[in-house]
Amino acid sequence: MSSLTSPAPVVADASGAPSRFVVGEEHFLLDGRPHQVLSGAIHYFRVHPDQWADRIRKARLMGLNTVETYVPWNAHQPSPDVGPRFDGDLDLARFLDLVAAEGMHAVVRPGPFVCAEWDNGGLPAWLFTDPELGVRRHEPRFLAAVQGFFDRLLPVLAAAQVDRGGPVVLVQVENEYGAYGSDQAYLAALAAMVRAGGITVPLFTCDQADATMLADGGLPGVLRTATFGSRTAERLAVLRAAQPTGPLMCAEFWNGWFDHWGTHHHRTDAAAQAAELDALLSAGASVNLYMFCGGTNFGFTSGANDKGIYAPTTTSYDYDAPLSEDGWPTAKYHAFRAVLARHGRVPDEEPPRRAPAPELAVELDEQVALDAVVDRLGPVLCFDAPPPVEAVGQHAGFTEYTTTLPARPAGDALVLPDVRDRAVVTLDGLVLGTVDRETRTAVLAVPPTAGGTLRVLLEDQGRVNYGPRIGEPKGLLGGVRLGAEELRGWRVRPVALNLDVVRGALRPAPGGPRAGTAFHRGTFDLATSADLHLRLDGWTKGVAFVNGFALGRYWSRGPQRTLYVPGPVTRAGANELVVLELHGTADARARFVAEPDLGPDEA
Ligand code: GLA
Repeated sequence: MSSLTSPAPVVADASGAPSRFVVGEEHFLLDGRPHQVLSGAIHYFRVHPDQWADRIRKARLMGLNTVETYVPWNAHQPSPDVGPRFDGDLDLARFLDLVAAEGMHAVVRPGPFVCAEWDNGGLPAWLFTDPELGVRRHEPRFLAAVQGFFDRLLPVLAAAQVDRGGPVVLVQVENEYGAYGSDQAYLAALAAMVRAGGITVPLFTCDQADATMLADGGLPGVLRTATFGSRTAERLAVLRAAQPTGPLMCAEFWNGWFDHWGTHHHRTDAAAQAAELDALLSAGASVNLYMFCGGTNFGFTSGANDKGIYAPTTTSYDYDAPLSEDGWPTAKYHAFRAVLARHGRVPDEEPPRRAPAPELAVELDEQVALDAVVDRLGPVLCFDAPPPVEAVGQHAGFTEYTTTLPARPAGDALVLPDVRDRAVVTLDGLVLGTVDRETRTAVLAVPPTAGGTLRVLLEDQGRVNYGPRIGEPKGLLGGVRLGAEELRGWRVRPVALNLDVVRGALRPAPGGPRAGTAFHRGTFDLATSADLHLRLDGWTKGVAFVNGFALGRYWSRGPQRTLYVPGPVTRAGANELVVLELHGTADARARFVAEPDLGPDEA
C-alpha cells in the first residue's frame, strides 16, 4: 500500500494563482508536492444557492480541502427546446467561485450520467422520446446530445480549472460505468469530448471496488478510483490490483445512505465510519466523502431504484452525512474532524452547534379542489390509446388522463396493467382507488353505473437512476381495460402546478377533515427569515410549497416526517404555505417543528 512521503496540506492555496495538479506515480502532485485530496460532496442542486457558501465553509472547518459536485444535465436543461441554463440556483460558476473563496479545490463530475438518487440519474427524460437513441453507449444521437450539453458546460469548467487560477483539480468521465456497460468506445468518446472542451486537469473514472467493474468502467491513461464505505483495506487492494501505479482514491466514501419511501431512515455509526476514514487516510489514499452534506431533493427531482420492485427515493437526501440536510454538524462531523486533525491541520475555528428552528402552527384556511382548476393547469391533447407522459411534454410530476367510461355489464373491473408510477382513479369524482406500481395493485372494482368520466391522476414518482431502467417512459403503459375491453379516446393533460392559477381560485374553508385531491393554503408570520421543518401529521400524500418554493413530496408512509424549508425562501412578516394533497387530511393544519424528523432508524 502506498503512503504519503510528506504530510499533505489540508487547506488548499487560496491565492488564485495558477497551480499545476497532476497524477503522479504514487500521489497527486500539486505544484510538484504530494497532495492528498480530502474532499466532500455538496450538490449545489440540492442546496439553496444562498446557503452554498455556508455549507462549503463548514466543509473547510471540518478539515476538508476540496468540495465535489455532480452536474445534473436534466436540471440544467429540462426541455429540449431551450438550451441549458447556468444561472440562479444552477449557477455552477458561482458555486465554484465560492469553493475557491474558501481556499478549497473542486472536483466536478459532469456525467452525463450521474446516478446520485437523482431523477433519471441526471439524463433528461426528453432524450428518450427518440426510440433509436442509445443510452450510455457509443451511439451517434446520444453522443450528439451530450456534445450539445457539454458545449455549454465545459467552458464553465475549463475557466475554473486550477491551472487557470480556479479551484477545479479533477473532472470525472461518466459514473460507475462498469456497473452498467463495457463500451470502451463510448468512454473514450466522452473523454475526448471533455479534452476537446478545454479540460486540461486530470480526468478520472469511478467504479465499485470490483475487478470487472473497474476494468469495464475505466480507460487506459485515465485515473481509476473506487467507491465504497467499508472494508477499506480490502477495497484499496482491489483498486491497486486494477491500477498498479497512481494515487489511490475513494471517489465516493459512502459515510451514510439514502432512504426510500416505506423503509427506515438509514444511519451509520459515526465511530465506525471515522475508523474507516482513518484507515483510508493512513493508507495515503485521497477521499471524497459521499456525502459531506446531502441536502434535499426539492420539487420533483428525486430518483428511484428498481431491482424488481420500484422504490422511489425520499425528498430528504440527508444521507446521515457529517453535515445534516439543514446544514448542522453532527456527531459524525466531529468524529471526522478529529480524524482529519490527526492526519493534518484543521482550522482552529469551531463549527457552530445546532440551533432549534421556530415552532408554530398554520391553519390552512383556504382550499380549492384540483378539479376546479385543472383545466387552467395545462392544455389537453387527444389520443386513442393513453400515451406515455413524455408524449405531452411532461417529464416530471402529474399528468391527468380522462376518458368516457362506457355503460357496461355489472361485475367488470378496471384493469391498469403497468402504471408508472402511481394513479388516483376517480369516476365522476368518486374515488375508485389508488394504483401503485410498487405494490402492483392493478385491478379496481367499478360500481354499476351507466358510465361516466373516468379520471386517472398519474404521478411520476421519480425516474430510476441506476441500472437498466434508466430512460424508461412513464404513464399508463399497457393501457386501461374495463374487463376485456381496451378503453380508448383519452384526453391527456400535463398538470403544471401553477400557484398563481391556484391562488386565484382558492376559497375559505373550515378546519377539520377534508377529502379529495385539492390545494390548501394558509399563511404564517415569522419574526425573521429562518430554516423551518414542516410537519404534516394527518395528511396523506402530496407536495408542499413555501412562498412558491417547491419543498418536494411528503407521504404519510414515511420514514421522513418533516420537510426542510431553507431559510432563504422565508421572510420576516407574512409567509405562505400551499399543499397539494392527493387523498385528504384528518386536520387542515400543519406545524413547523424545532428539529427535523427523518423517521425511525433500523431497529
Ligand atoms: C453510487 C453512485 C452515486 C450514488 C451512490 C449511492 O456510488 O455513483 O451517484 O448513487 O451509489 O448513494
